[in-house]
Amino acid sequence: MLVGTPDRSLYCAVWLLKPLRDSTFFPVLGRVLAKEARNLIGVTTLFGVVLFGVALAGYVIERGIQPEKFGSIPQAIWWAVVTLSTTGYGDAIPQSFAGRVLSGAVMMSGIGIFALWAGILATGFYQEVRRGDFVRNWQLVAAVPLFQKLGPAVLVEIVRALRPRTVPAGAVVCRIGEPGDQMFFVVEGRVSVATPNPVELGPGAFFGEMALITGEPRMATVSAATVVSLLSLHSADFQMLCGSSPEIAEIIRNTALERRGTAPMA
Ligand code: CMP
Repeated sequence: MLVGTPDRSLYCAVWLLKPLRDSTFFPVLGRVLAKEARNLIGVTTLFGVVLFGVALAGYVIERGIQPEKFGSIPQAIWWAVVTLSTTGYGDAIPQSFAGRVLSGAVMMSGIGIFALWAGILATGFYQEVRRGDFVRNWQLVAAVPLFQKLGPAVLVEIVRALRPRTVPAGAVVCRIGEPGDQMFFVVEGRVSVATPNPVELGPGAFFGEMALITGEPRMATVSAATVVSLLSLHSADFQMLCGSSPEIAEIIRNTALERRGTAPMA
């Protein structure tokens, strides 16, 4: 490369990093690291103690046999890092029986320590994502008046059970004659129910309850009249909702009975 000529691959690398700037990954990672800091520091301390301990043991066992590889503590620490991380470059290999037994034990503890790190981070990420979903669902649920009848404990259960979904205008949400295992609540936008006199349902309304109540196939095709934001509730969670709130169960059943009179049979 000529001096002063811009390095294209560098520009290319910077361009590839651009999407990361808007990614939500780094804020989430930051929160996970902050929340799990104590556990991560605990495992890192354990790693340091094990590393130093096995380096010392390796040094004591092997320094007389291989002074050029294990003759100093830093050399033994290098061997311990390579072995504990299970990288295994093979540049320093214990020759004695005791040294090899130690190596085996170090490798196994290395796997355990890395599994602990991975486990802490995975749990932290899972909880962070669940927390984000919960907050977003909570806001969506607040837009459905029916749920305002629920007590706090059931509301928390429902917020956990509901799955948000955005459907583009014109897309079919459920089709007549198909089996149904979930019902839907409209948060924003409108859906169109293809009854003989088509009906439009807007924010706060629900549909898809009939299949859950009767166990029969869908009685009408429902499609998005506009872009629509929905919350879906699976049949097991629907039973839970009805069990916890007889008032809501009655509203849903009465609405289903009223609609049954005007819906075409599958
Ligand atoms: P389901 O039969 O599970 O799936 C189609 C849904 O359309 C149905 O439940 C009702 O929720 C809804 N539906 C059927 N008929 C009407 C109607 N007349 N008015 C409003 N919604 C209806």
